[in-house]
Amino acid sequence: MTPQELRRKYIDFFVKKGHVEIKSSSLIPENDPTVLFTTAGMHPLVPFLMGEEHPSGKRLVNVQKCIRTQDIDEVGDETHLTFFEMLGNWSLGDYFKQEAITWSFEFLTKELEIPLEKLAVSVFAGDKDAPFDEEAFNIWKGLGISAKRIAKLSKKDNWWGPAGKTGPCGPDTEMFFWVGAQKAPENFDPEDKNWVEIWNDVFMQYFKNEQGAYQVSKQQNVDTGMGLERTLAVLTGKKSAYETELFTNIFAKITELATQPDLIISKRIIADHLRAAVFMLAERIGPSNVDQGYVLRRLLRRAIRHGRKLGIAGSFSHKLAAVVIADYREAYPELSQHKDFIIEQLVQEEEKFSKTLEKGLKEFEKALENLGFPIVFEVGNDESKKKAFEDNEKTKNIMPGTTAFHLYDTYGFPIELTQELARERGVEVDLEGFEEAFEAHQELSRQGAEKKFKGGLQDHSEETTALHTATHLLHAALRQVLGEHVEQRGSNITAERLRFDFSHPDKMTAEQIAEVEKLVNEAIEKDLPVTCETMTVEQAKAKGAMGLFESKYGDQVKVYCVEGFSKEICGGPHVEHTGQLGHFKIKKEESSSAGIRRIKAVLEK
Ligand code: ALA
Repeated sequence: MTPQELRRKYIDFFVKKGHVEIKSSSLIPENDPTVLFTTAGMHPLVPFLMGEEHPSGKRLVNVQKCIRTQDIDEVGDETHLTFFEMLGNWSLGDYFKQEAITWSFEFLTKELEIPLEKLAVSVFAGDKDAPFDEEAFNIWKGLGISAKRIAKLSKKDNWWGPAGKTGPCGPDTEMFFWVGAQKAPENFDPEDKNWVEIWNDVFMQYFKNEQGAYQVSKQQNVDTGMGLERTLAVLTGKKSAYETELFTNIFAKITELATQPDLIISKRIIADHLRAAVFMLAERIGPSNVDQGYVLRRLLRRAIRHGRKLGIAGSFSHKLAAVVIADYREAYPELSQHKDFIIEQLVQEEEKFSKTLEKGLKEFEKALENLGFPIVFEVGNDESKKKAFEDNEKTKNIMPGTTAFHLYDTYGFPIELTQELARERGVEVDLEGFEEAFEAHQELSRQGAEKKFKGGLQDHSEETTALHTATHLLHAALRQVLGEHVEQRGSNITAERLRFDFSHPDKMTAEQIAEVEKLVNEAIEKDLPVTCETMTVEQAKAKGAMGLFESKYGDQVKVYCVEGFSKEICGGPHVEHTGQLGHFKIKKEESSSAGIRRIKAVLEK
């Protein structure tokens, strides 16, 4: 199956079921200032999901171009993509679960010809906010899915939305495809990586209000989303989207241009970033230092740098763009339409950055030498990266923020690029120092952009709010167990997990990890109140609050306090009492860079 066949099959199927095909909306959200890019098919439809009448009716279907920027740093592995396409169908107060599930089943088994024994699904198990989705469960059973293949999962897995703090949301049902070499087991185990999620039907039957209560909504909608790249990969027996036809031509071109074409991670980074960049440029966004333009610049400059690693000589991004434009000509005519602009912008940006890249890299090396950094190291894959971390674990080399700022200001190195270069050598960049130098130069705009795109749609979901509070508990517990030298060095929260970087020289022992988990879970079980007070930085400091690094003298800050356990400066949001968190579990403790450890943890309901 080709990408275009999958797109057509999906659209045609739902058109036959009375849906009207609508065009993919712009990648730049029109009505949502809180995010930089469209992240899901439902995103441009929010006003209509809230009751406004859609000019094309109550049943819609489309392929939406999407960009998600939370995981740009992870691109290079097998799964992460910056740009992707989402196939989706919607009922705006029209049909509901019976039709949605029946049609999903029909599409999967008849149109895509997925055998029943390779399918499993999950439904919402129910909690205090909404009951078990028995209706969805029974519909699946009625269609022939064995009860053993229907997992009942919590909100973390089987609930979608609201997109912001309030709005339409509801239980969802997810569909999984078995990719294992052996026969699929009778029982569906959602933890088994051989079950790959390909589709999500969301039943928007609730409205979460300002008070956090779930009211049954007047208009009951269906919102579904199927990732094109991933579905194509599983249907064609490929391990990753990067192995599908979508990447064949661009990889071939990169290989043709490269003298060192074996660096697969660099190849994936270049292919992914160029694909995303071409789609952004087609929206007439040019590289800049703010908002979407900054994301574009960051992607391009990273791709250019990886191009040099592959030994590609001369300007190349426009050559790859030509491949992307040709590949997507049929599905996205806007790419051909804006081809001149796309090529022109790429040539200019690459010319500009090429002039400074080499000098900047030399400057970077010099800075490392000044740090007394001994190892000259070329990193090509995860294994050697890991080794670099381990080798330098004890050396605790920190590159001064002023150096990073100099690289940014004089050589146009996005901070993320300097961080990546440094990470590959086991060196940490002093981000606070960078921000200070940055602010001193009155360039606050990029920081604004950063906040915006790091936040994204899910910023204030219930899951992220709970994980936010869990992060404070973790921080406090780490200081109790490991000592006062522990300081936050980075934090990243998605709906699924928290990631917390902190200063500590050694790998944590199993006992220390268990002790930290125990302390956090005890604080949860005690159901401690979480309170918030506004005060000046100096007052906060006097009260012993942690997390002072982001604030300036005289600033008013919010201090969140978990009674008797943690006190931390933070913008929020947080839960009201710790009992709302569920069970805290550390999934991973690893090195992040020299002298910095990284913990990934989850809340289990
Ligand atoms: N909006 C739903 C999702 O992104 C379909 O999974």
